[in-house]
Order: sequence, then structure tokens, then C-alpha cells
Amino acid sequence: MTTVTYRSSDGAAREIEARDGSSLMEVAVKDGVPGIVAECGGAAACATCHIYIDAGFAHVVGELDDLEDEMLDDTVGERRDTSRLACQIIVTPELDGIVVEIPEAQQ
Ligand code: FES
Repeated sequence: MTTVTYRSSDGAAREIEARDGSSLMEVAVKDGVPGIVAECGGAAACATCHIYIDAGFAHVVGELDDLEDEMLDDTVGERRDTSRLACQIIVTPELDGIVVEIPEAQQ
């Protein structure tokens, strides 16, 4: 198991023991984390699972592909250098301790 912390824009944080192999979106939805809407169910087609990744883990989560990059241009929340789609990031032991921030709005 890998510990992931989801922090909402009001500062509320929830630490979750995430199953390796799940996406950060699936973990959040399964645990009822507010602010991860995930309308498309993980197809990189809605951008309502927008998150901000802890910059210290950027080398672990890897580069985004062209589709994710395009979708992130359409997020409701401000796009940042650390913006990612939670459905495109798979939990691995190397993510243990990561803090994921959730934008104020997704839709
Ligand atoms: S769930 Fe739709 S883009 Fe991630």
C-alpha cells in the first residue's frame, strides 16, 4: 500500500492507503474525496479529475502525453506546471507520501 494525501483548496486533507495499480482518480473516487468529479471515468476526456502534483514527485509520475496536455488546457481550475489528470497517474510504491492538491472547481 502507498499513502497518498489529497488536500482540498480549503486546506482540508485526507490521507488514504492507496492500492498500487489504481489511478489517483480511482483512489479518490472510491474513498469519496470531494472535488474529484471524474465524469468520464478515466478516459482522459473530461478533465474533471484535475489535480496539482507535489513537485517533488514530478520525476516519479513522469511526463504527460499529448492527450493529457490538451485536456489540461480546458480545466476550470487554473493550469499550473504541476497540473495533471488524476486518472492518468498510476499508484506505485514510489508515490508513497505524495500530497495531491485539488483545484477549487472542476466543472
Ligand atoms: S476522469 Fe475524465 S479526464 Fe480523468
